Amino acid sequence: MEITKVVVVGAGQMGNGITQVLAQAGVNVIMNDLKPEFLERGLNTIKKNLARDVEKGRKTEEEVTAILGRIHPTTNLGDGHDAQLAIEAATENMEIKKSIFKQLDEVLQPGAILATNTSSLPITEIAAVTSRPELVIGMHFMNPVPVMKLVEIIRGLATTDDVYNAIEDLTKKMNKVPVEVNDFPGFVSNRVLMPMINEAIYCVFEGVATPEAVDEVMKLGMNHPMGPLTLADFIGLDTCLAIMEVLYEGFGDSKYRPCPLLRKYVKAGWLGKKTGRGFYVYN
Ligand code: CAA
Repeated sequence: MEITKVVVVGAGQMGNGITQVLAQAGVNVIMNDLKPEFLERGLNTIKKNLARDVEKGRKTEEEVTAILGRIHPTTNLGDGHDAQLAIEAATENMEIKKSIFKQLDEVLQPGAILATNTSSLPITEIAAVTSRPELVIGMHFMNPVPVMKLVEIIRGLATTDDVYNAIEDLTKKMNKVPVEVNDFPGFVSNRVLMPMINEAIYCVFEGVATPEAVDEVMKLGMNHPMGPLTLADFIGLDTCLAIMEVLYEGFGDSKYRPCPLLRKYVKAGWLGKKTGRGFYVYN
């Protein structure tokens, strides 16, 4: 099946990035969110990224006009009824995702594929609220989406090979590299990344080192492009906590317990870059 029209649910950090790379690959995108101001913010981010590409000589003005012409922002999910695929990129919360998947199942045509960009929630559980679990799959992009090459593709228990192949083809068309994984808490990316971030937070919590020192060790000592605490702020501390909770509950192993300092920051509303404060302060 050739995928030429996609609905992206959520115009936030991940949703606008997914919209941009789909439109760059020649796909028409219905970018959906709850409020017009969320759509406007998402579209502005895309425009800023594309303007930088023109400045750097990577795209022409004409190409940018064509890319933007393929993006259709709307608060009405029904505008995407004839899409062959939906990619959900909403908040990392199972109840919200289930509610969106029920709506997508009603709105989209019977053969359409329903994908989720969840970073750790079970695909199989999300699929179970639809009438088409065989057409449900995980498509986990990395942040910032326009830059990062990986897409983790996660098969649910019922996902068919045809669906997997269609998503793998689309990922390659988006100039990304697909990696297949099975449906277990945190998949591979966050099962490995998030305990490292959580441990970095424990180092601060226990007074082993300052956030700056922890980040410096990992950047200069391990060649990570960002220190783990800078990365946590960049991902969002609420998302980091949600993923740790999924690992902790999913495996029932104390090694995944979220650091109390992470909980405290989230309770304080210090969610990282997006709220202006996390382990660092942003202006
Ligand atoms: N959107 C689009 N482009 C961006 C961007 C963004 N948000 N941030 C940076 N870029 C681009 C810049 O424009 C720049 O491109 P040019 O040089 O061609 O203009 C390029 O990326 C490099 O940026 P910088 O020079 O400003 O900074 P940098 O060299 O530190 O790179 C980075 C930035 C690519 C984000 C790099 O720091 C990095 O790789 N960080 C780690 C990112 C990471 O680990 N992501 C995964 C997070 S986990 C996740 O997403 C999954 C999950 O479920 C939580």
